[in-house]
Amino acid sequence: MSRKKVAILISGSGSNMLALLDDMQADHPAEPCLVLSNDPAAPGLAKAAARGIDVASVDHRVFGRDRSAFEAELMKPLLAAGPDIVCLAGFMRILTAGFVSHWQGRMLNIHPSLLPRYKGLDTHARALDAGDARHGCTVHEVTPALDDGPLLGQADLEIRPGDTPATLAARVLDLEHRLYPAVLRRYAQGDRTPLFLTSDAA
Ligand code: GAR
Repeated sequence: MSRKKVAILISGSGSNMLALLDDMQADHPAEPCLVLSNDPAAPGLAKAAARGIDVASVDHRVFGRDRSAFEAELMKPLLAAGPDIVCLAGFMRILTAGFVSHWQGRMLNIHPSLLPRYKGLDTHARALDAGDARHGCTVHEVTPALDDGPLLGQADLEIRPGDTPATLAARVLDLEHRLYPAVLRRYAQGDRTPLFLTSDAA
């Protein structure tokens, strides 16, 4: 069976993207076809290019508040690459319903909280402020509602006394790097059963 093609959308360092690329190097049901960013200066783009992956960028700032115009440009390299699966990996732009519906059922996102808790930004500080005992990350299918959609995987850890948003973010990011590749591997084989990982030693 031919390998599924995966496009990865990033905005920054692309550490989740690298975890996905690393995993796809070994025996895997999918292979990368494109790394795409809304920021031409995203450090992750150079890292992907250094690994021989096709990269592209569409600078969202050029389009001001016109999300549809931005997305029309974003769609061009994506359609040219023809992915079977689109992975949002640290992609920090909200996508409109029109864009999402084109890829619905084929688009995944990783979010740094135990959804449905803490949609949006500042998830680590919000978990700390709430006095939560546990925190983590979620991979889900993307639907038009922000940080919503069918759950594909979740990984959690214990919040420690003395944790700060930064220490928590670092430990959750390690978990993200385990969870996302594991979920993508299953998803590319058609397995949409949620995967649960836990890590108290992370
Ligand atoms: C990651 O924690 C990711 O979950 C988060 O940005 C961080 C940077 O990821 N994404 C979001 O908050 C999306 N709303 P990276 O190191 O893979 O670029």
